[in-house]
Amino acid sequence: MNIRFLLNGETVETTVTDPTVTLLDWLRETRGLTGTKEGCNEGDCGACSVMVTSEDGAEPLNACILFLPQLNGKAVRTVEGIAAPGGALHPVQQAMIDHHGSQCGFCTPGFITTMACNHLNGGTDHAVALAGNLCRCTGYAPILRAARAAEGAVVPEHMRDTPPAPITGQDAGTGAGPAAVQPQSAAELAAWYLDHPEATLIAGATDVGLWVTKQHRDLGQIAFLNRCADLKGIREEQNSIHIGAMTTLADLEPVMEAHHPSFAAMIRRYGSAQVRAAATIGGNIANGSPIGDGPPALMALDAILHLRRGDTRRHLPLASFFLDYAKQDRAPGEFVEAVSIPKTGADRLKCYKLSKRFDQDISAVCGCIWIETVGGKITVARLAFGGLAGIPARAAAAEDTLVEADWSEATIRRAMDALQNDFTPLSDMRASAAYRLSSAQNMLWRYWLEDQGQDVQVRA
Ligand SMILES: Cc1cc2nc3c(=O)[nH]c(=O)nc-3n(C[C@H](O)[C@H](O)[C@H](O)COP(=O)(O)OP(=O)(O)OC[C@H]3O[C@@H](n4cnc5c(N)ncnc54)[C@H](O)[C@@H]3O)c2cc1C
Ligand code: FES
Ligand code: FES
Repeated sequence: MNIRFLLNGETVETTVTDPTVTLLDWLRETRGLTGTKEGCNEGDCGACSVMVTSEDGAEPLNACILFLPQLNGKAVRTVEGIAAPGGALHPVQQAMIDHHGSQCGFCTPGFITTMACNHLNGGTDHAVALAGNLCRCTGYAPILRAARAAEGAVVPEHMRDTPPAPITGQDAGTGAGPAAVQPQSAAELAAWYLDHPEATLIAGATDVGLWVTKQHRDLGQIAFLNRCADLKGIREEQNSIHIGAMTTLADLEPVMEAHHPSFAAMIRRYGSAQVRAAATIGGNIANGSPIGDGPPALMALDAILHLRRGDTRRHLPLASFFLDYAKQDRAPGEFVEAVSIPKTGADRLKCYKLSKRFDQDISAVCGCIWIETVGGKITVARLAFGGLAGIPARAAAAEDTLVEADWSEATIRRAMDALQNDFTPLSDMRASAAYRLSSAQNMLWRYWLEDQGQDVQVRA
């Protein structure tokens, strides 16, 4: 397929013969731009970070799990394009020198591009912005000092990229055969997918990228969803919030901050800034992962999943979408179009993510709880957990003990006991079965304590 994008201010038009070539490999091997480093090659270390500008603005992305066709109609800045064309250093580069933010230097290009992007966007929470960039040498303090020092500096004009028009239609397809398509709308995708139900859909590629870089899988025919504008975005309706499948976690976070701040706080711990800028809520649901963070929160919010196959649409409770490990209620040729959550009065959601590291880590257990009471009696209880079974799942037995019972410590204790009838967790490298179960029980206890106004401190 043929694509067009800006690379460090220059237009690139190229025919992509392998649609799963990553931007990182293309930069280093085809363009000789070796400033962008390969560390983990799986989105974990940020050494390959680049800045990508689309019509929605600039964001940092991991080039190692970004396929070249995803750049069609975008602008990329690598570390080679951060200084001004005449050579004047960018304020974050100068600040890194002034504050000794680089030692061996391997992580430095990734830090520079992420910092420059955050500087362009006016971000000041540098710990959050840089949580996806790992450094073995500096201990981070000098880097954070540098980021703070550069905050007030004027954004160099060359950093404001204007993305070019993408190559679409016949022009896009005249390249290397039909192995990959880039539909421009949900309807176009629906028609194509009906005829190619075996194809791989690629949304943000934060999962699929690893199938290629780590598992060396052949993805067969591919549809890149990133140009389906009508699958993106969040629409607030009278009684619900409609979230398009291609909405990224980064875009979901501020909307959830307004409605369900505990979910927003959990989203801020989802991967890193680079992962959140790429990862979509549709991908997070469709991958059916037992340890994804989105599904338990959405299930506790009583979300409805909107599926589409051709022109036929189905709507089902998200909780019933996950059937068994790696098995979802999705027919061939059917895809996730959106997920919606009801708008309610008081927010009763609490999301608890337990992982070995606070930032940039996958959950060992994720518990999301919504309990409503009227006159001291529990009227609604939705407890959804990840990490306790082969799928994200509601805790039916524990919910049963809660509904219509008094809202009391004794009731909560009974529900904590009942949780062991709901789940038989596994032991793995993240956590033992016993630890998982007792952590989930303690999440329920924490919900009770917080509801009683107790300040629960879980970080030293
Ligand atoms: C470093 C790193 C950290 C991570 N941290 C977290 C974390 O903290 N919490 C967490 O939950 N996850 C995490 N993940 C996993 C991943 O980011 C999420 O699951 C993400 O939401 C997947 O979305 P995507 O758009 O990247 O999906 P993709 O990788 O593009 O696709 C994932 C799967 O969904 C399918 N798919 C995508 N969109 C659709 C659709 N609309 N309809 C039907 N099928 C579709 C694809 O075919 C594929 O099978 C992490 C991943 C990485 C690499
Ligand atoms: S090489 Fe580690 S995130 Fe890309
Ligand atoms: S300076 Fe060596 S890894 Fe960061």
